[in-house]
Amino acid sequence: MPSARRLFQFLDTETEWASGKDMVENRPPRLEFRDIQFRYEENRLILQGINFTVEPGEKVAIIGQNGSGKSTILNLLLRFYQPNAGHVLADGKDVSSLSLEDYRSLFSVVSQEPYLFLGNILQNVDLSESAKADELESALKESGVASYIVRMPDGEKTQIGRDGAKLSGGEKQKLAVPRALLKDAPVVILDEATSGFDIESDAYLHDVIVNKMQGKSVVMITHHYNNLEGAGKVNRLPSASFAAC
Ligand SMILES: Nc1ncnc2c1ncn2[C@@H]1O[C@H](COP(=O)(O)OP(=O)(O)OP(=O)(O)O)[C@@H](O)[C@H]1O
Ligand SMILES: [Mg+2]
Repeated sequence: MPSARRLFQFLDTETEWASGKDMVENRPPRLEFRDIQFRYEENRLILQGINFTVEPGEKVAIIGQNGSGKSTILNLLLRFYQPNAGHVLADGKDVSSLSLEDYRSLFSVVSQEPYLFLGNILQNVDLSESAKADELESALKESGVASYIVRMPDGEKTQIGRDGAKLSGGEKQKLAVPRALLKDAPVVILDEATSGFDIESDAYLHDVIVNKMQGKSVVMITHHYNNLEGAGKVNRLPSASFAAC
């Protein structure tokens, strides 16, 4: 019975809305949030009057209190949800008119809790198992993963356990960074990507983002104000209580 219930729940799952067909070029587009309003539930407004742009190659930070809607902005940008009013635009076109697969291929996302597979470190970094040796080496170095691999019993072949149980919180989080670097997408999104990093690792990755990702657009959500250095623009969201009223 429980299996049957899960099967029916699965069949009832809403299909992702993916009507757009227009092609997307593989370069950073000019992204714009125009008069965005959004609610997950009927009576609770989460975002209202959100306006900002990310110019190609620009590094933009989004800051705000817990629950103010920062990750929600990324959900809208990545088209996991649609705004209730207003438009998310890429090069002036509403993103809903673009092919979803093409559009998503523009982004690499580094989130606070990366999805980890049962396997070794390498399998969790090079998901397509097609990275060139030199690219893999520099991605592991720039993310700081290389510095802890050397302490592991089997190096990069060390098993990480279920959900990365054999790694520390920061070590797990760091695995998402070389993944994103290897994807080499034109727009990089960091959602509190370094919250579990020690001060040195945080500063090192920040330097990689600002100096080695020239040409790429970066949208970073951070609570660490020292990470705002190098950001072209900082968007501060109103507090949660204000946004939700
Ligand atoms: N799937 C959802 N369904 C209903 N409400 C949600 C959902 N996801 C988030 N919310 C609500 O929307 C508000 C904004 O959430 P969001 O995750 O965007 O905040 P945030 O700014 O990223 O916070 P934090 O700094 O804690 O990560 C919160 O009050 C949250 O309760
Ligand atoms: Mg969040």
